[in-house]
Amino acid sequence: MRNCTIETVTGDIVNFKGDAIVNAANNSLLGGGGVDGAIHSGAGPQLLEECRQHGGCPTGEARVTLGYNLEVKYIIHTVGPVWVGGDSGEQNLLASCYFSCLKAAKELKITRIAFPAISCGVYGYPPKPAAKVAVESLKTYSATLNLYCKFTIFCFNRSMSITYNEILNLSHER
Ligand code: APR
Repeated sequence: MRNCTIETVTGDIVNFKGDAIVNAANNSLLGGGGVDGAIHSGAGPQLLEECRQHGGCPTGEARVTLGYNLEVKYIIHTVGPVWVGGDSGEQNLLASCYFSCLKAAKELKITRIAFPAISCGVYGYPPKPAAKVAVESLKTYSATLNLYCKFTIFCFNRSMSITYNEILNLSHER
């Protein structure tokens, strides 16, 4: 039984219309550049106010806020690992980000969620291994959590889209 569908889109995640957008945040949860910057500017200043109340978020975990001016009900903020060569538990921490976000989705009873390429920007995670973790995690954890979700992975450029689609197609063949 298929528990989830995964599609990729090339574009700006703030345009997503669904239940929740996942933010690639940092431990402070007080905003930054990249996805984080785009989401904060799209959501408006109330988002930062709510984020302050969380007092930060450890790497691999997730915190939920409202979506404010974005066209989603919730934003699920997760903090990906910084890539330091691959021997410091980065893979498990990245997988933990996806698990934490899906656990939050289950609690929120939501089914349409947009993900960015977590850790593939400032945090330097190589896109191909990151895409493998993303696709495997979304499939595995939606099954273990018995979630029926539609995941949309937003890639900010064509090369990232090609990478994620390659990994997605390979995973269908298994
Ligand atoms: N929509 C979709 N994808 C985006 C957008 C956007 N508006 N902006 C950037 N991206 C892509 C990047 O090109 C990259 O592929 O999202 C991926 C993640 O990049 P970052 O946003 O840099 O996130 P990350 O690598 O997890 O680093 C997190 O960056 O912005 C700061 O505050 C953030 O300190 C944290 C760090």
